[in-house]
Amino acid sequence: MNKVEVVPYKEDKNNKKAQVAKMFDNISPKYDFLNHFLSLGIDIYWRKRAIKLLKPHKPSHILDVATGTGDFAIAALKAKPTKVTGVDISAGMLEVGKQKIKKKGLENVISLELGDSEKLAFEDNYFDAVIVSFGVRNFENLEKGLQDIYRVTKPGGKVVILEFSKPTSFPFKQIYSFYFKYILPLIGKIVSKDQAAYTYLPESVHAFPYGKEFVNILNNTGFNHTKCIPLTFGISSIYTGTK
Ligand SMILES: C[S@@+](CC[C@H](N)C(=O)[O-])C[C@H]1O[C@@H](n2cnc3c(N)ncnc32)[C@H](O)[C@@H]1O
Repeated sequence: MNKVEVVPYKEDKNNKKAQVAKMFDNISPKYDFLNHFLSLGIDIYWRKRAIKLLKPHKPSHILDVATGTGDFAIAALKAKPTKVTGVDISAGMLEVGKQKIKKKGLENVISLELGDSEKLAFEDNYFDAVIVSFGVRNFENLEKGLQDIYRVTKPGGKVVILEFSKPTSFPFKQIYSFYFKYILPLIGKIVSKDQAAYTYLPESVHAFPYGKEFVNILNNTGFNHTKCIPLTFGISSIYTGTK
């Protein structure tokens, strides 16, 4: 069970999944811009680093869960797969992603479709690798999502997860807390016009397990050879494992 449930719209009676889908639908036109702007472009480097870890495994078919506008799926092409399938619960995010993929002429190798991490519409042992960037924190039921990711991964296949974590050392912890709590929600609100989305971001990061705690969850799901690699003073971490 995900212990602390942080939702975007506190007055909303819908469940977390419906609220998250609605929130990403709302911010989808501005999502890419805000991502790169608010992270000063570091998010692009983080995705590249994560895919570098996948490359030696030469995965042929990759599943990108919570693909959003497809940036991780596109970055995954560096691992030279024959196919990348991206799934997401937000039709708005997928639409932006589809346009981007069409513009880049990548429709023959990347396909995006509606899909829920907790009920993946694929057979057991189907993908050589499953990747998720900044998605797991948004799952309604983290364990259920990871279990289904495990189910569709081939034995010996790889999982690579990129997610926000928390810097712990002075003065980075203090600077980051101030930026994440005050500056980021303000810019996010002005640009995206969504009152809650960029307040939900620091709140959901704060409540989410990271480091050893997340590695333990991966171990309990059944993954082996699990590892956590902190990036940029621990603002993000890459988690890897093998089925
Ligand atoms: C912060 S975005 C990340 C998008 C992309 N992976 C990236 O790196 O930019 C999180 C995405 O997770 C999706 N998401 C949340 N819960 C999901 C679920 N249960 N199944 C599939 N996608 C989900 C949201 O709709 C959203 O597009």
